[in-house]
This record gives sequence, structure tokens and C-alpha cells, in this order.
Amino acid sequence: MSSTGNAVVLNGQGKRVFIQEVATRDGFQIEPRMVPTQDKIALIDRLSQCGLSKIEVTSFTSPKAIPTLADAEDVMRGIARVPGVTYAALVPNMRGAERAVDCDVDELNLVMSVSETHNLANLRMTPGQSFQQAAQVAAAVRSSRTSLNLSLSCAFGCPMEGQIPTDTVLTWAARAVEAGIGGITLCDTTGMAWPSQVFARCSAFRLAFPQTTLTVHLHNTRGMALANVLAALQAGVDRFDGALGGLGGCPYAPGASGNVCTEDMVHMLELLNYDTGTNLGALLEASRLLPGLIGHDTNGQVAKAGRTHDLHPTPDYVETARQHALSKAPA
Ligand code: COA
Ligand code: ZN
Repeated sequence: MSSTGNAVVLNGQGKRVFIQEVATRDGFQIEPRMVPTQDKIALIDRLSQCGLSKIEVTSFTSPKAIPTLADAEDVMRGIARVPGVTYAALVPNMRGAERAVDCDVDELNLVMSVSETHNLANLRMTPGQSFQQAAQVAAAVRSSRTSLNLSLSCAFGCPMEGQIPTDTVLTWAARAVEAGIGGITLCDTTGMAWPSQVFARCSAFRLAFPQTTLTVHLHNTRGMALANVLAALQAGVDRFDGALGGLGGCPYAPGASGNVCTEDMVHMLELLNYDTGTNLGALLEASRLLPGLIGHDTNGQVAKAGRTHDLHPTPDYVETARQHALSKAPA
């Protein structure tokens, strides 16, 4: 690692970083209670005004597997789309792709796990079968306006299988690129990644697939998500998923918990002089609505603490302390 590299990551020098919101998909999929459809639509419409580059609206999965997103069509058709924002949806198979295309989704986020155990748990298919579905979808939408991304779950480790070799991840990525899929997301599904691993894996990916749009999708399960964002930036990554309030988790990955919190990530990136394109104040306002929607507190830190530069009024007792200090011998 060069000293120049270190300087770059801690001073973004205005570099553009793209923020992609996944709270209404990754977040709501694991909530015990279904957020009413109209409330989802209102939240997404609010998020559309926040400068996010992409919003993963919902998923077109089996309603038996993910009951809280069973209203995918209604949500997708109900939102007011803002030009410049890509509206994506998670799609696990051909059936899901057909449903999503019917709703004119901008981007299908195909999904498969690089861990066979997690793929079976989550999608009831082997990774090979999931890839076959993805390749079929790619062939079907090839000449349409729909763009494609493939999310590789457990790309930094599986909670059941443990470490997954970098080569396994790169091999699936190579097959996806060959199938005509233009974007790939490396997902740390249960927050097993650590910074040096993220740096190495993202660097290897960028070297192997310089033309492929790379997104990093981090979970904060072990408190390392923001550190992992820095490591990914160091490797040249400029596209991050995040969930408002740090919601999220795969219901079929044991031990899963929330995504990196969007507004906490944006807050850090702005202090580091990156251009996130987002309106942090508006994101914080949206985040503060979440407890009312989901019925419990969130893991968002900045929404509670305020921004680093939002100061507290000086308490009255400081003046008393000053008088007290001045009554003593000067230091
Ligand atoms: N949308 C809606 N229904 C679907 C569907 C889709 N994309 N894919 C399958 N189904 C329905 C079938 O029509 C069938 O319905 P029926 O029982 O009424 O006849 C039923 O689901 C079973 O179909 P099958 O193809 O055998 O699916 P499966 O049971 O093997 O499940 C998935 C496979 C992928 C559909 C399911 O595991 C799933 O949706 N997983 C998503 C998990 C997820 O989103 N995890 C978090 C994100 S990482
Ligand atoms: Zn996730």
C-alpha cells in the first residue's frame, strides 16, 4: 500500500461516490411486521428526493419466502420515479424477472450465493441452478432497456461454510460477465468481512473485471462496515449499497443483521471530502421516520447523535463552573 493510496482514501478530494439505498428491500425483507404498502411508497418517494443514485425498491421473490415484500407490484407501480435515479429490484429466478419487467423495473438485481449451503438455504437451488436462471434472464432481456446486476451473496464468507476462496468469487463473476451481466455486487451477507480482506478482494475484482460496474454491499454485523467502506475506497470502489437506519439482513442466513447505515456512511464520506451526490439532512429526516414505520428503534447513529458539526448548546452550569474556576488561583 503506497502512502499516496493512504492519502487518497482519507481525502476524497471531491471524488464522486455513488450511494444505493436498499432499506425497502434488504431492510423490510427481515422485519417481522409488514410495512403498509402506502407507507413504503411514501418512503421511496421521499428517498427519490435525496440524491441517491439507485434505490432497490423491493424484491420479486416468492411471497412464501419473503412475505413482507408480497406487495412488490403495487409498490413498484405506485412510486413516482425521478429521472436520474435507477429503480432496481431483487430477482431470484425467471419468474421474478418476468414480474419485474412487467412493472418496468430499470434494473434487475439477480442474486446467487457463492456458498452452496447459503444458496440452498436462501433460494432452494444450487449456485449452478441459480446461475442458470440468471443467464436465462440475461438472454431474455438482452435487447431491452432493462439493465442487469448480479449480487454474489457471501462473497466475503458464509456463516455456515466459513471462508470462500477469492477464486470461487472471481469464477462466478467471470461467468456472469460472459453472460452479459454488466454489474456485480460483492455482498458481505452476514458482516464477516474485515478491511484487509475487503481491500484484497475488491482489488482482485477490479483488476480482473475493469469494465464491470462493481458495487460493495456491506453488513455491520460485527461493527466493521464503515472500516470496510474505507478499505473498499482504497481499492478504488466508488459504489456502495446502504440501508437507511442500518436496517436489513437475509432471513435465510443465520446470524444476519443490518446493512451499513446509509446516512452514517454518507456522513463519514462527506467529512472525508467525497461527493456522495446526496442530501444528508434529507436522509436524516427520512431515517427518523423509520421507528414509526417499523415499530422499533434503528441502529442509525447520526440520526440520534446529530452530525459531527451539529453542536449542542452549552449547558448553563458551564457559566457557574467558569465563575468557580476564576475564583481559584490562575493556572
Ligand atoms: N415470485 C413469486 N412466486 C414465485 C416465484 C417468484 N419469483 N418463484 C417461484 N414462485 C412460486 C411458484 O409459483 C410456486 O408457487 P405455488 O406453490 O403456489 O405453486 C412456489 O413459489 C414454488 O416454486 P419453486 O419454483 O419450486 O420455488 P422454490 O420453492 O424452489 O423457491 C425461490 C425458490 C427462489 C422462489 C424462493 O426460495 C425465494 O423466493 N427466495 C428468496 C429469498 C430471498 O429473497 N432472500 C433474501 C434476499 S438475499
Ligand atoms: Zn444484504
